[in-house]
Amino acid sequence: MSSNGTPEQPAALPRLKPADFQRTGPGTPAGRFMRLFWHPVFHSADLKPGKAKPIKIMNVQYTLYRGEDGQPHLTQFRCPHRGTQLSVGWVEGDSIRCRYHGWKFGSSGACEAQPAEPKPFLDRIKLETYPCRDYLGFVFAYLGDGEPPEMPRYPEFENFDGILDHDSCVRGCNYFNDMDNGGDHAHSGFAHRNNPGAFDGFAECPVMDAEESDWGMTIYTQFSGDNTRISQFGMPNIMHFKGQPIDPGVAIFRELLSWWVPIDDESHMLFLVARVEVTGDKAREYLERKERRLAARISDGMEIAMRVLRGELELDELDPETCQLLHIQDHVVQVGQGVLANYDAENLGRSDRQMVLRRRIWTRELTAMLAGAPMKRWHHDPTKIKLWRGSLEQVYEKQRELRSDQTVIS
Ligand code: FES
Ligand SMILES: [Fe+2]
Repeated sequence: MSSNGTPEQPAALPRLKPADFQRTGPGTPAGRFMRLFWHPVFHSADLKPGKAKPIKIMNVQYTLYRGEDGQPHLTQFRCPHRGTQLSVGWVEGDSIRCRYHGWKFGSSGACEAQPAEPKPFLDRIKLETYPCRDYLGFVFAYLGDGEPPEMPRYPEFENFDGILDHDSCVRGCNYFNDMDNGGDHAHSGFAHRNNPGAFDGFAECPVMDAEESDWGMTIYTQFSGDNTRISQFGMPNIMHFKGQPIDPGVAIFRELLSWWVPIDDESHMLFLVARVEVTGDKAREYLERKERRLAARISDGMEIAMRVLRGELELDELDPETCQLLHIQDHVVQVGQGVLANYDAENLGRSDRQMVLRRRIWTRELTAMLAGAPMKRWHHDPTKIKLWRGSLEQVYEKQRELRSDQTVIS
């Protein structure tokens, strides 16, 4: 009852706007929502046994380390004694020891040693720990409260004749800039037009469409002749799609999974894993060519993109052989929107449908979460996933006819 005797009205829920999706700190609506899901947080191969790394995910810092037995562990960032960053300590078995005064913490977070204390008070100390495990070449973590949901699996990336090819990049803008770009294949023929193998947006601009699916959204990029590129968006931040060939020796569209994971509100990590169906000598050669491409890179893509945005360099001056041109082009257009895009200033059209639908789904789900109402249970069913309709060759054939410079890869 209120002071005047009338029944209390439940507090009105805030009306969510797309800008609310940009903030993922603890306690924010999007931060609470994102913390209901598992996310990749690190490349497994870069976390060696017995080593620790500092990481930041959704505005929170953590310590990630791999025990000497090979198992990854994720803990709070700072030592509970006097706050030194735990990643500068060292790993003993599956425990981590703080470098400052030698407190030691087991993988469950229990304090196991306080060497400088005449009367140790181990029972009063507990290090926060979070579930994490290796999968598909990444360390995945669950950063929410309580029991984690089952970690999603992607069987089509587990058992096949070929190799997994990993990539990632840090992008200096909000993760929603990039997520909106992910299914937006109307950008490909313009943003990537001077990239070898790119579609030409003037030659044929596809018609975009999208519909909600069991996993998130099915996104249609329709070229003429019912040739349709189909991408699957998985809630809340995943994409399953076919990407342009990047290796001249394997000139087929590669099947990829990608995740957009916020580091903070101004930057995020794009994690990518591609299924490349090459075995034996061809797999070895593929990996050697990748090594050579990586070694030939002259600079950090984000740094080049920032120079382009400052007007010090032009995209047309960049050599695709020596830089990650595709990534740089995406950096330029996404960071060019503003680190946090201003949604109030947008004028959306039909080609933005996938983006509008994603925002509707996010709004619906976050509103349900805030109201304590049931949310949709998202489900990835590989038997229902389709990534192309019609003929890729026909699309390329048409592009070859229409393009003047004949650079489309076949
Ligand atoms: S700050 Fe870690 S042991 Fe003192
Ligand atoms: Fe792109």
